[in-house]
Amino acid sequence: MTNKFNIAVIAGDGVGQEVIPLGKRVLDAVGSFEYRDYDWGSEHYFRTGSMAPEGFLELLRPADAIFLGAVGHPEIPDHVTLNGLLLPIRRKFDQYANVRPAVLYDGVRSPLALRKGEKIDMVVVRENTEGEYAQVGGFVYHEQPDEVAIQTAVFTRRGIERIIRYAFELARKRNKKKRVASITKSNAQGFGMVLWDRTFQIVASEYPDISTESLLVDAAAMNFIRRPESFDVVVASNLFGDILSDISAILVGSMGLAPSANLDPTRRFPSMFEPVHGSAPDIAGKGIVNPLATFFSAAQMLEHLGLPEAAEKVNVAIAKVLAEGKALTPDLGGKSTTTDVAEAVLNHIR
Ligand code: NAD
Ligand code: IPM
Ligand code: MN
Repeated sequence: MTNKFNIAVIAGDGVGQEVIPLGKRVLDAVGSFEYRDYDWGSEHYFRTGSMAPEGFLELLRPADAIFLGAVGHPEIPDHVTLNGLLLPIRRKFDQYANVRPAVLYDGVRSPLALRKGEKIDMVVVRENTEGEYAQVGGFVYHEQPDEVAIQTAVFTRRGIERIIRYAFELARKRNKKKRVASITKSNAQGFGMVLWDRTFQIVASEYPDISTESLLVDAAAMNFIRRPESFDVVVASNLFGDILSDISAILVGSMGLAPSANLDPTRRFPSMFEPVHGSAPDIAGKGIVNPLATFFSAAQMLEHLGLPEAAEKVNVAIAKVLAEGKALTPDLGGKSTTTDVAEAVLNHIR
């Protein structure tokens, strides 16, 4: 391989520090990468009063991709840590498509009692730059007894249309069930979500080969449990996509298996790859965090960088480790350590 990709790495907090170094070893086993490691996160906050130095986004801009672990610390309010590091990256680099696949692998048990032969293979496509996460609003009478907080969701036709179009294109590219489900709450939220539903109808008409359904989010949550096998591509707003992708993660066995790609499909800016899970303070430092979500995210990164064969190698190695069932962390019912699992994956790659 001639081309060395330049990867910006933010291991971040908690279990992020455990999974990212192993993720780099997996990447190194299938390709050639130059890493820039940034020590940003909660320790940086304790040291300096901010999660990352001023101008940190400009440091990330030249990277071919960003590889991130997790952000969040029990002793710092979450809105401070997340708005100080993770969320600005998604917004600044217009990573509007947050792609979160959920596949039930052989050897992994779903908490649901599935009918024999039933498979779960879906992907939640989450709008990642606006909607309920727009951070528009404020406090009035701050910390007074009559305090008022306003948090406005922002839906733009452009923002809705591009994420829905991304979902349809993905359904075509996957070439599986060729189905897109759109999730809103337009029975209660009569503006933004209505614009979403209308836009979904318009874009859908351009894809006659893809079947569609529109679900309200409460019914969608229920149907994820009732008929998970029926979903292919699911497209949702920022908040609904966040919630639904935790459900889809556990449907296929564990948060420790759920990857995500934060994509700028126009490639104007670097995209970011990170596990769906957080810093998991309840298990951090114990050496038992499941690193596979991070490895799957690394495979998404390889795919994005135009290295589909390398991505395939990683995905196949993970699938083998799961099917064998010998090296599994406790979240999957095993007794192995994080490092054991990583070694098992690396052995299959070699
Ligand atoms: P979490 O995802 O960190 O953990 C939820 C549960 O899943 C915990 O019981 C944890 O032990 C388990 N879990 C998660 N990942 C696992 C893995 N790889 N292997 C085994 N078990 C795993 O969510 P939380 O507890 O709600 O949040 C903890 C902190 O992380 C908070 O500060 C939160 O804001 C932050 N957070 C950050 C991100 C991110 O950086 N992308 C995502 C979610 C939460
Ligand atoms: C995720 C996380 C983040 C989100 C939090 C930590 C802000 O839950 O990536 O799913 O809601 O986007
Ligand atoms: Mn989440």
